[in-house]
Amino acid sequence: MDARNPNQYTRTAIALHGIVAALIVANLLFGLYMTGLSLSPQKLKYFSWHKWIGVTVFMLVTFRLLWRLTHPAPALPRTMPDWQLKAAHVSHVLLYVLFFAAPLSGWLFSSANGFQTVYLGMFPIPDLLGKNKELADVLKLVHKTVVYSLGGLVVVHIAAGLKHHFVDRDDVLTRMYPFLKVPSPRPPEP
Ligand code: HEM
Repeated sequence: MDARNPNQYTRTAIALHGIVAALIVANLLFGLYMTGLSLSPQKLKYFSWHKWIGVTVFMLVTFRLLWRLTHPAPALPRTMPDWQLKAAHVSHVLLYVLFFAAPLSGWLFSSANGFQTVYLGMFPIPDLLGKNKELADVLKLVHKTVVYSLGGLVVVHIAAGLKHHFVDRDDVLTRMYPFLKVPSPRPPEP
């Protein structure tokens, strides 16, 4: 059941958040690992796995965005200063932009490089561009820049969540992780 409580994320939103987060972090680390290997059949196999995870992320974030647009997130605590509310909004929009830009830039790069993606080894995904070496070099740099920016923003996002829980002691983290306990308010200063 996914009944709407305005102070909680829906179970679907919580599940999508966890799955997308795990796949993105895994693909960031896997991407860094595989590019450091010397050319071998193993490396090419890893490239395919990397692309499949990326395509899965693309499908999931499309669903996640549609879910988010139809199921608004619970309001942030009124105790937050205005600049923090604005920063949270901007960073969440930017995260969604990068969620799409990461797989799309990889897909464009792979197309221009002349390697079609065959999802799970069974479903050929149409190339978005014809083979073009110069363009592929630029798109490789674009993919790197996008995924490193995404990695940086994910770190900021995690740090903000931890600050809410341990410093501000509000319910921002527990709304997404309901198995955690809402921190008790700090005792008043003597
Ligand atoms: C969640 C989505 C994705 C993330 C987080 C991600 C992350 C990364 C990272 C960290 C690297 C290593 C960059 C470096 O050289 O330092 C990389 C490389 C690469 N990615 Fe992705 N990627 C994603 C999706 C995709 C998709 C969908 C494709 C293709 C369909 C793709 C194709 C590639 C390729 C071919 C490379 C190797 C570049 C080279 O030749 O060195 N990626 N990716």
